[in-house]
Amino acid sequence: MRTIWPFPSYLLGQKQSIRRSLSMPHKKLSARERKHLEQAAAKVMKNAHAPYSNFHVGAAILLTNGRVFSGCNVENASYGMTNCAERTAIFSAVAELGPKIEIRAVAVTNDHGVACSPCGACRQVIYEFGPDAVIFFQGAKGPKQAHITELLPEGFRLQ
Ligand code: THU
Repeated sequence: MRTIWPFPSYLLGQKQSIRRSLSMPHKKLSARERKHLEQAAAKVMKNAHAPYSNFHVGAAILLTNGRVFSGCNVENASYGMTNCAERTAIFSAVAELGPKIEIRAVAVTNDHGVACSPCGACRQVIYEFGPDAVIFFQGAKGPKQAHITELLPEGFRLQ
């Protein structure tokens, strides 16, 4: 899956920050893109370190540059140190590409097949890098999708 950019790569960061500040809507994901993202989430879920909750979660993010990053939950004996799958995916994207990434979509999956939307902390982190992101997750009545601002109204941004 690749996105063809109408801009030279040296303008990429600039274009993305303009998009972020203006909140231009992203193109809707195709069924194929969504499936690819969900498969990446399901694959990385197997790497979860979740001996305390026994709840394995996988997340995959699609960036506006077409790249996909994935992450799993990583728990700790000191429970509060746990990192959710969504944040693992986002932090690895930033670690590899730097902070000028923009998230177009996030897919979340879990090994219990139960409802699991991103927690509050992850919603805020998704919003930081994807103010127009769409999130695919398991809702109470089956698969759901929601815009980040539906999940996190009035997200915080430092002025
Ligand atoms: N968890 C995630 O990784 N993502 C979510 O969206 C919800 C919860 C993890 C955190 C913890 O390791 C386990 O699920 C149980 O809360």
